[in-house]
Amino acid sequence: MKKNNLNKSYWENRYFQNQIGWDLGVVSPAIKFWFDNEKNKSLNILIPGAGNGYEAKYGFENGFKNIFYLDLSENAVKGFKKNCPYFPNEQILMIDFFDVSQIGFFDVIIEQTFFCAINPKLRKKYVDKAYQILNSNGKIFGLLFEKIFNTEGPPFGGSHKDYYELFSSKFDIKTLEKTKKSVSARKGFELWMEAKKKEW
Ligand SMILES: C[S@@+](CC[C@H](N)C(=O)[O-])C[C@H]1O[C@@H](n2cnc3c(N)ncnc32)[C@H](O)[C@@H]1O
Repeated sequence: MKKNNLNKSYWENRYFQNQIGWDLGVVSPAIKFWFDNEKNKSLNILIPGAGNGYEAKYGFENGFKNIFYLDLSENAVKGFKKNCPYFPNEQILMIDFFDVSQIGFFDVIIEQTFFCAINPKLRKKYVDKAYQILNSNGKIFGLLFEKIFNTEGPPFGGSHKDYYELFSSKFDIKTLEKTKKSVSARKGFELWMEAKKKEW
């Protein structure tokens, strides 16, 4: 798969053929922990590339009513709607992350195996987009793979140094460290990141 072809039809096919090895089937433990410890339930939260949406579902069911699920794949959205039929339709964004137009709107972006799924050439664009759609106090929370995968991606990995350099152009990195809250298949190579939008 050419990295440039990671388009909507690529992702539709992955779901259609049930080739969804990334899918945990449950909320990611590190993100569950974040929800369980966050007191401000009125935050506007975006979960891009949310897939079957276990994180969006968990947050919503635990009182975070302003969560926005985003995925460009219709098949992913269908799966999410099946998993979470009571989730508000107007908070389901079936669009490309790079086309999000709510400038300065979100308080939080939650990262769970979306960053690793895009063409690495788009990583700077991801950081710029996240910066643009977060409000002045906005933050990114989530997981990044600290590993170089031997297989043709996605997923595409990286190092602590790569991520630090990339995100620190526009964010103050509060935490970027190995997490113990990984599922067993990802133990030892996931970094938990907390990054706050820089004030200029
Ligand atoms: C590796 S999957 C991860 C799904 C989910 N986060 C999970 O962990 O189960 C990547 C997801 O990102 C979506 N995606 C890829 N590129 C996208 C883009 N540019 N905008 C929005 N969604 C995208 C895919 O459709 C897919 O659902």
